[in-house]
Amino acid sequence: MTDTARALPGVSKAVVPAAGLGTRFLPATKATPKEMLPIVDKPAIQYVVEEAVAAGLDDVLMITGRSKRSIEDHFDRAYELEEALRAKNDTQRLHSVRESSELAQVHYVRQGEPRGLGHAVLCAAAHVGGEPFAVLLGDDLIGAREALLRRMIEVRETYGGSVVALMEVEPEQVSLYGCAAIEPTDEDDVVAVTDLVEKPPADQAPSRWAIIGRYICDPAVFDVLRDTPPGRGGEIQLTDALRELAKRTTADGGPVHGVLFRGQRYDTGNKVDYLRTVVEFACERPDLAAEFLPWLRDFVAQADGRA
Ligand code: UTP
Repeated sequence: MTDTARALPGVSKAVVPAAGLGTRFLPATKATPKEMLPIVDKPAIQYVVEEAVAAGLDDVLMITGRSKRSIEDHFDRAYELEEALRAKNDTQRLHSVRESSELAQVHYVRQGEPRGLGHAVLCAAAHVGGEPFAVLLGDDLIGAREALLRRMIEVRETYGGSVVALMEVEPEQVSLYGCAAIEPTDEDDVVAVTDLVEKPPADQAPSRWAIIGRYICDPAVFDVLRDTPPGRGGEIQLTDALRELAKRTTADGGPVHGVLFRGQRYDTGNKVDYLRTVVEFACERPDLAAEFLPWLRDFVAQADGRA
């Protein structure tokens, strides 16, 4: 650990942006945030909050937009429902209803207009203050057995600055992500990020390492975001602000490192990935797998027969 990194405060807060329009999932997302779409029987965003809490971050700030009520209601108590379940002695369901309201200290701030992920993160400035913080995209799930966020916090403690999570994708998928130019470090799973490009065409991508929805940001990102003009798609991009920080030294809010992630990740804002997520999560559930898996095998065998 460097002396500068040792002097830095630790990560204790998580920011969960959930104010995007979710146009890829219309019409379901017309009146419901995509982060509230159920993965089996829990909304995607609850898994994200559980992941933050598992990594030791129980102060969670949600960045919400239109139709934010369902998110607030989900992480709040539901007295009438609880009373009804208590009256029926349905302790299991009562527990499942109360669980989300007891998970973390959840705070909310509203992003008036969906002006991009960078703008959503900037809305967290007053709550976060001068400490490093984690950003977890509310529609991006990491397998429950993965220790990605904890590892990213460790990397921040070692190197200071900001940390992104990188996943190797197929060349034709690079244009869907922010993409990193990287250099090795002494640690196999950690790279120095020398440049970042948001959604590059495949032939201009600096690598196949794509940024996925987990970040540890140095608080210097706020000042950079204030000066970041709208980029790709007319939106203020977090990638553009991190690109600036990647050029800086620790004294100035830089640098940026990447954790190379090879585990399970699900983009639930995308229809096919959403379906895959629901099926995989259902197959892992002891209460559902015994009934669901045989049906799934039959269904696939029949579909193969038809093909
Ligand atoms: P996406 O890139 O998936 O954008 O945002 P989107 O607009 O929500 O979805 P599509 O592409 O129209 O289907 C990544 C994350 O950033 C949040 C989203 O809610 C999602 O968790 N976000 C995005 C905001 O909070 N505010 C924004 O202005 C944009």
